[in-house]
Amino acid sequence: MGIMNLLIRQGGKPAGRIGRLIGKGMNLGHSAQWQWALERISIDPEDVVLDIGCGGGQALKSLAGRASKGKVFGIDHSEEMVDLSRRTNGELIEGGRVEVVHGEVSSLPFADEMFHLVTAFDTFYFWPHHAEDLKEVIRVLYPGGRLLLFNEGYRQEKLSRRGAQFEKAAGVELQTPAETCALLSQAGYTDIELALRPEEDWFLAIAKKKENITE
Ligand SMILES: C[S@@+](CC[C@H](N)C(=O)[O-])C[C@H]1O[C@@H](n2cnc3c(N)ncnc32)[C@H](O)[C@@H]1O
Repeated sequence: MGIMNLLIRQGGKPAGRIGRLIGKGMNLGHSAQWQWALERISIDPEDVVLDIGCGGGQALKSLAGRASKGKVFGIDHSEEMVDLSRRTNGELIEGGRVEVVHGEVSSLPFADEMFHLVTAFDTFYFWPHHAEDLKEVIRVLYPGGRLLLFNEGYRQEKLSRRGAQFEKAAGVELQTPAETCALLSQAGYTDIELALRPEEDWFLAIAKKKENITE
């Protein structure tokens, strides 16, 4: 297996020494993506936020800076990434502003309606059951809360070379924007906004959980 394929495959669940290096690399290499995505959403200082597939944990820091009086949780199914995220956010964890837990997107260890915002950067394509997992995410969102889904890699009219290599190495199938939107709608999300940067293969969807309608 070539080095690039190994790195891509590890991205789904970084493990061991290589996994830790990959986590550190993602902390540096993904910051432009988080910045671009987070510029497109408002975050209230008191918000409670969950970052799924938090990897090396650098995005948790940016989120804690925006939700400056709230709390930010990270979850990842890789023990190494949980450990690295905790190291990356040592001070914020000590101050009670960030918490990182080990777990699976398919069974989130959180109460119903706990989060104002859930983010998922570069992780959605690795999730095992897209339709069910999106429903699990909506369970933990407040009514009116939002999911921000960012992927580097989506199926364009013609799959890019990078996209084709990613699919093959990661053993996943990239979705078109329309396919992801359909899954979001079926899971109960509304007000879906898309932003694309085709030259970078960047895909962003921001979707809302319906507000409670009270009479
Ligand atoms: C490519 S990395 C992205 C990490 C980080 N979000 C970033 O942007 O740098 C994907 C992360 O999602 C995690 N992940 C993949 N599938 C997951 C699942 N089913 N449940 C929880 N975490 C998952 C991986 O362990 C990995 O840390």
